[in-house]
Amino acid sequence: MDILPGNNEEYSQKKYWDDRYTSSDEPFDWFKSFKDISSIIEELIPDKSSRILMLGCGNSTLSEEMYDAGYQNIVNVDYSEVIINKMKARNALRERMSWKEMDVRALEFENDSFDVAIDKGTMDAMLAVKGDVWNPPPAVVDDCNKEVGEVMR
Ligand SMILES: C[S@@+](CC[C@H](N)C(=O)[O-])C[C@H]1O[C@@H](n2cnc3c(N)ncnc32)[C@H](O)[C@@H]1O
Repeated sequence: MDILPGNNEEYSQKKYWDDRYTSSDEPFDWFKSFKDISSIIEELIPDKSSRILMLGCGNSTLSEEMYDAGYQNIVNVDYSEVIINKMKARNALRERMSWKEMDVRALEFENDSFDVAIDKGTMDAMLAVKGDVWNPPPAVVDDCNKEVGEVMR
């Protein structure tokens, strides 16, 4: 598979991510890596025992590098079962961190389960649809509101 989609909209489709993760085992970090943002993370999350939810973890190394830096209470979710299985295997020795196939629009956690939620590139993927990004279609607004609503509870 060519890792780049045929069009931008594919970033908003689960099939694109499943195919991409099936065809590649290489970790990839969107936008920034842990070393770029570690000072911000340390400033915003001073307590290393914080309960952290990683929304749409993909095959980023952010969680494992945070773990190795002392943030071990991390739950990673992604709606691609393909990448969840690969990341679970890759991080098998990082026993305090968990990996769950889950949609960020319908999180299966009790209220108040986390202290911090991190979204790096996941809402961006949901926004990758045709048209004006500043005036997205109602379904996209609804998806983003659902994610925010789930994270806030
Ligand atoms: C652009 S990648 C970002 C991956 C990673 N967070 C990073 O920073 O490199 C977007 C990720 O979000 C996941 N994703 C997109 N929509 C999702 C949804 N509704 N629920 C869960 N995961 C989703 C995709 O499977 C993909 O792994």
